[in-house]
Amino acid sequence: MKSIAINALTKTYTAGAAPAVDRLDLDVAPGEFLTLLGPSGCGKTTTLRCVAGLEAPTQGSIRIGDQLIAAPANGVFVPPERRGVGMVFQSYALWPHMSVFGNVAYPLKMARTPRAEIGRAVDDALTRVGLGGLHTKNVSALSGGQQQRVALARAMVGRPDVMLYDEPLSNLDAKLRFAMRDHIRSVHNSLGTTSVYVTHDQEEAVALSDRIIVMRAGRIQQVDTPRDLYTRPRSTFVADFMGFQNILPATVESRAADHCHVRLDHCPDVVRSAYPAPADGQVSVAFRAQHVRFSQPDALCLAVNAVVTKATDWGSALRLQLDVSGHVVKAIVDEEQLVSQSLSPRPGDPVTFYVRPEHVIVLLSQDDHQDAGLAQAEEGA
Ligand SMILES: Nc1ncnc2c1ncn2[C@@H]1O[C@H](COP(=O)(O)OP(=O)(O)O)[C@@H](O)[C@H]1O
Ligand SMILES: [Mg+2]
Repeated sequence: MKSIAINALTKTYTAGAAPAVDRLDLDVAPGEFLTLLGPSGCGKTTTLRCVAGLEAPTQGSIRIGDQLIAAPANGVFVPPERRGVGMVFQSYALWPHMSVFGNVAYPLKMARTPRAEIGRAVDDALTRVGLGGLHTKNVSALSGGQQQRVALARAMVGRPDVMLYDEPLSNLDAKLRFAMRDHIRSVHNSLGTTSVYVTHDQEEAVALSDRIIVMRAGRIQQVDTPRDLYTRPRSTFVADFMGFQNILPATVESRAADHCHVRLDHCPDVVRSAYPAPADGQVSVAFRAQHVRFSQPDALCLAVNAVVTKATDWGSALRLQLDVSGHVVKAIVDEEQLVSQSLSPRPGDPVTFYVRPEHVIVLLSQDDHQDAGLAQAEEGA
């Protein structure tokens, strides 16, 4: 298994324009499954293509294992076919006139692998993606999900050290996406490759990855395990991207080593966070809609008064929009809460809500969250 070491990688497409990737440093451990996550245009594909050898970096260096594969300052550029990488694209990029076998065998034929060995390797690759027996089928006769599995088999048939994926699930419907996700993770585990995966979908990233890099404008915003990223974003940009529907301006009221109190702006109510405040004064407070409770879950939770402005029944849950002294707060009330508390809030009703301190994240407010480009648009509530 091989590591990937990216040092101060910069890629500028157009002289004078902002770089697509800006002095990016990144180490991927041998055998790790690492995801680059971020909104469209933040430089994910460019980073991946620089590793694959499909783009030449403007500055910086990339190593796979001990081998320097790209370093413009030293005139080093190893061509894609000599990097030991397999790549899966969003568009399957198959040869439509060829059979399944022809497509998967192609990279081995290019590498002048002996015929008998090609046969064995293609059989193995197709079995691993659940397409055993489809060798002679024409790829254009296959469904989208099957075509993407052919592309996955082709990318791994040469047993690359590194697998690269660029939004491979984007053209599949929801059900196929789950199945393909399992194929990708099982190929990673069983072949022991090092994998770098690109997506703008936070749920996909969380489900697949050992570690996630959140990117913004060519730079890294946060590097963390999926769990830490999901529960403890470090900036309003990341909080927004990871699906915190509520990010509100607030002021620190009191600080302690292991908690703090913050007051929502223009609001008499204070909330308690189970984390220290990152600064004095102006901050942002973030919490998820599904963490809003309508009965006090524990003694440390502080009450916030609000008025219901919108209630939408989604069957499995009730989505509420609340007004808190001019701030919009979104809440998702699940069936259990609805039933156990016989809640039936209507627009105009006054309500009191609570958020557990460990669900209240306090963030520096200088990076404005308005331009964060909310990935998962929250309709309805
Ligand atoms: N071939 C190209 N020529 C010029 N600009 C490009 C090219 N590819 C990407 N860009 C620009 O580089 C930036 C990063 O793009 P990209 O790496 O594709 O982002 P992502 O994959 O995160 O959506 C964007 O501003 C994009 O418009
Ligand atoms: Mg892209």
